[in-house]
Amino acid sequence: MTKGNSNKIYYSVNEQRDTEIVVGYNLRNYISKELSKKKTNFFIIDKVIYKLHYSYLFDLKKNSTSDVFFIQIEGGEKAKSLELFQEIIHDLIRLKIKKSDVIIAVGGGTICDLSAFISQNLYRGIKLKMIPTTLLSQVDASIGSKNGLNFLKRKNILGNFYFPDKVYIDIEFLKTLSPDLISAGFAEIIKVFTIADPNSFMLLNKVTIDEDFLGKKKEIIDIINKSIKTKIKLLKHDPFESNSKRLLNFGHAFAHPIEEVSNFQLSHGEAVLISMVLETSISLKIKHISIEDFTLIISVIKRFYTPACKSFRCDVKSLLKSVKEIRLLRAGNLNLVTPTSIGNGVIIEDINDNIIKDVLNSYFRN
Ligand SMILES: NC(=O)c1ccc[n+]([C@@H]2O[C@H](COP(=O)([O-])OP(=O)(O)OC[C@H]3O[C@@H](n4cnc5c(N)ncnc54)[C@H](O)[C@@H]3O)[C@@H](O)[C@H]2O)c1
Repeated sequence: MTKGNSNKIYYSVNEQRDTEIVVGYNLRNYISKELSKKKTNFFIIDKVIYKLHYSYLFDLKKNSTSDVFFIQIEGGEKAKSLELFQEIIHDLIRLKIKKSDVIIAVGGGTICDLSAFISQNLYRGIKLKMIPTTLLSQVDASIGSKNGLNFLKRKNILGNFYFPDKVYIDIEFLKTLSPDLISAGFAEIIKVFTIADPNSFMLLNKVTIDEDFLGKKKEIIDIINKSIKTKIKLLKHDPFESNSKRLLNFGHAFAHPIEEVSNFQLSHGEAVLISMVLETSISLKIKHISIEDFTLIISVIKRFYTPACKSFRCDVKSLLKSVKEIRLLRAGNLNLVTPTSIGNGVIIEDINDNIIKDVLNSYFRN
């Protein structure tokens, strides 16, 4: 459905679980009208957003007829901790939150993950809404209902599925995002287009992240919409990840290990960009993809490489150790997703370790 400066996408796994996703520009009036009148709205907000987008948040509060509380926290991976989880639960209980109230996450993927974990666990479930503010959280972390906390220095060891009631994707937030974080968000867009949407993949060849980028509101909204729709299509086969063989894992075989060995200096999206290059290179090595499609995919991914992606080098042995450890913690198999052409991919279970080693060695040697 399209209306004014926004449009809506619905994601439902079954009748009881339905998420409405609104994508648009300058949604502040729309959101404030939607704030539940008889309930208290507890905003969990990234401190950076509170500072940079204070007038937006102030307008939400000013125009709403309900009670509103703002809780500010620091974003980034350290937000996804049991310590912060406990601290915020304390704050919410001190503020007398009731089961019928609403939690609204405002921030990037880390704030969305933490807020969803809190909403799911406090009183066995509180209504959740999200206002994702990074491109990555708009196309990925807020879509599909997963949440996660880090534990023992490992990513997403704790977590579950919890459906937000509404997700408001306002591209107005992107204007304060660094070009590197815009590129990191594109990683997840490239991922879904490469394996499932050849027409949209071709749009990426025209995207340049420069000062004109945010002026192209229609194009950005179009790409975000297409990316979310394609992700939802892929999710519908297996919304609760009961099967570890998922096309959506493209770009993720090496992403968490890369984040770990970089000591979290690389963001999740940057690690996904590098992992997609490695996985596509494996596809070429085992002759699953033509040299033409390989070259096009790599050139699109590298358009979005940040300086940190370009300079990232690591010890291949440590990377493989991390891949193995994470593999053991998860399903036991690497289940590598390899693109076979633009818009298509397959999952390979029995990839030879030497092939992986060769590709990693050659990537990190250059
Ligand atoms: N649950 C899921 O399905 C899912 C999917 C993908 C990623 N994730 C998780 O999301 C996290 C990564 O998300 P992220 O990259 O958004 O990280 P993030 O939340 O750490 O945000 C990145 C940085 O951007 C800042 N920021 C946020 N919005 C901004 C804005 N509009 N302007 C300026 N600065 C802004 C934050 O303060 C932070 O420093 C990872 O923890 C990853 O595991 C979860």
